[in-house]
Amino acid sequence: MLSKKMQDLLNDQINFEFYSAYIYLSMAAYLQANDLLGCAHWMRVQTQEELMHAMKMYDFVNDRSGRVVLKEIKGPKAEWASPLEAFEDALKHEQTVTGRINHMMDIAIEEKDHATQIFLQWFISEQVEEEASVGAVIQRLKLAGQSPGGMFMVDKELAQRIFTPPPQTSQAPLAPPQKA
Ligand code: FEO
Repeated sequence: MLSKKMQDLLNDQINFEFYSAYIYLSMAAYLQANDLLGCAHWMRVQTQEELMHAMKMYDFVNDRSGRVVLKEIKGPKAEWASPLEAFEDALKHEQTVTGRINHMMDIAIEEKDHATQIFLQWFISEQVEEEASVGAVIQRLKLAGQSPGGMFMVDKELAQRIFTPPPQTSQAPLAPPQKA
């Protein structure tokens, strides 16, 4: 059973993951409006990642007999000065997420909530990957600089990103079987 404090933290984080999805979808719209379809695609995949994070937490709260309470999602920023600025904002946002996850882990340790600690370990590793992948894009954008050819190459590369959903581990109800 989750403590009230941990349940509140998880519910807040579910909201923050949806907010993250909203931020990245807004970045995708900005990038698409600037004809960077590969960059926009990368951000759309990132949006899917965030929705998956939110739902993973949603399932965990339910699996622990907790109560999911959804809250209002804050509106994201809509404009950036450059694609580089958008990706730099994404990195800052991921660093905030990492801080929040680490704080949740501190509380889970304090409460001797072993199941939540194991659950959050996945997110701690995921955050290392999240920060590294945005950081790698920032490096490429910096190398491309103002060169249209360089930007074209980066955009083409980011178009290759694929969303791979993790295996389902929750007891959450699955979609009903399809009729033959
Ligand atoms: Fe769900 Fe990108 O942190």
